[in-house]
Amino acid sequence: MYRETDQNKRNLEAAPPAEEPARQYYFMEKCREWTRDFERRKGRPPRACVVNMGCQMNAHDSEKLRGILEQTGYEEALDENADFVIYNTCTVRENANQKVYGRLGRLHHYKKDNPDMRIALCGCMMQEPHVVERLRESYRFVDIIFGTHNIFKLAELMAVRQETGEMVVDIWEDTKLVVEELPSQRKYPFKSGVNIMFGCNNFCSYCIVPYVRGRERSRRPEDIIREIRKLAADGVVEVMLLGQNVNSYGKGLEEPLSFAGLLREIEKVEGIKRIRFMTSHPKDLSGELIETMADSGKICRHLHLPVQSGSTPILKAMNRRYTKEQYLELVERIRGAIPDLSLTTDIIVGFPGETQADFEETLDVVQKVQYDSAFTFLYSRRNGTPAAAMENQVPEEVMKERFDRLLQEVQKISRERSSRFTGTVQEVLVEELNSHDPGLVTGRMGNNLLVHFPGDASLSGRLVKVRLDESKGFYYMGTLAE
Ligand code: 5AD
Ligand code: SF4
Repeated sequence: MYRETDQNKRNLEAAPPAEEPARQYYFMEKCREWTRDFERRKGRPPRACVVNMGCQMNAHDSEKLRGILEQTGYEEALDENADFVIYNTCTVRENANQKVYGRLGRLHHYKKDNPDMRIALCGCMMQEPHVVERLRESYRFVDIIFGTHNIFKLAELMAVRQETGEMVVDIWEDTKLVVEELPSQRKYPFKSGVNIMFGCNNFCSYCIVPYVRGRERSRRPEDIIREIRKLAADGVVEVMLLGQNVNSYGKGLEEPLSFAGLLREIEKVEGIKRIRFMTSHPKDLSGELIETMADSGKICRHLHLPVQSGSTPILKAMNRRYTKEQYLELVERIRGAIPDLSLTTDIIVGFPGETQADFEETLDVVQKVQYDSAFTFLYSRRNGTPAAAMENQVPEEVMKERFDRLLQEVQKISRERSSRFTGTVQEVLVEELNSHDPGLVTGRMGNNLLVHFPGDASLSGRLVKVRLDESKGFYYMGTLAE
């Protein structure tokens, strides 16, 4: 299971428990001794900053890291000039990697002024051996390097760093282990992400995720439900179910359960009022899921359904396993069953071999589907993926030109689509005071659109009815309707 580890110098007084999560609580306690000592020396607790650089899964992992840090006596720092900085990295596109190296240079300066400072790197980028090699060689001031499979081990790794005084590197290639019941610190008290599965087996030919997040594995439904019940008891009203491909949930479980079946179980949890999920792969989206969504009072009317390209030959080269026509037919079926649904997507421009005609096919899909919004990406060549070795990579200028055209189209449609709810009354979950105008609060509708309206902090976390008075393109101004 271990690819490499530098932990052989461990010498803690009492033997730590072997089983999880008890082992991690033991190490959190160990770390607490150090944070107490820090407080005695400096007259304040140490401050930590966790920076998430990637997707919702990454953001949720960061909440777990913050939970562990809180438990070990850290306060939250306002910026990266802190006593402990953790970069939770992403590696889906190459430019994200470059940014990390740049930012590390700045951290090094902070560390020179603050010798107590610790720097840790984790997340998808750390699962790439060449990255770890470069860090080991040229970034010796980094204290801890870990990956995507052992986020739960932060306290243990911190303790090892303290004991040995040396850089700790702990990267697992893959794991079947799911450690439950560790602390987590939510950004909002009333909503939370919940992992339902990890990894991905799809191997889309451009994508590095299957190599850095490992094989697909589903959490047991009883563990998911137990977590959601606990969250509900703790004030959570909205859950976001997370997985790279939620539509294939349940395969490989002792008692297989479909994703739709899981949703129906979650729907029964009292106190949970809204259920979201992402991401859906079109090839695995079942009729059962469409029916379950259509019948549900709790599942949000929003589906993120990445298309990636509108051209059937490109989709084939991407290993997406659906055609343009199959995708359009699926959208039609979904819209037929759930007419008020908001559809969003991901699109890659400039995949190897993409011709002007292929690109026009993508534009055609965008125009036919009329997405509520779309994330558009320039193709990024990721070493180790099949697409990186393909000939006929698209020249950058061509890619950029197509990208700009697509973005314009997507935004035009999105603006038109967003305004279609003007004048209606919608249920929104109030998230926070508006940062620009403290007389306003910001709420989120089921379809993910934001609305700003007069209100105060007491509304935070409540589901209220709001009249959408004016569309501002990608958000609304409104008034309380009750
Ligand atoms: N280049 C550009 N975009 C990519 N994505 C994944 N891999 C790449 C890549 N190599 C995009 C896909 C995916 C989203 C999370 O990131 O559109 O759905
Ligand atoms: Fe990457 Fe495809 Fe898996 Fe999504 S489904 S994580 S794009 S390989």
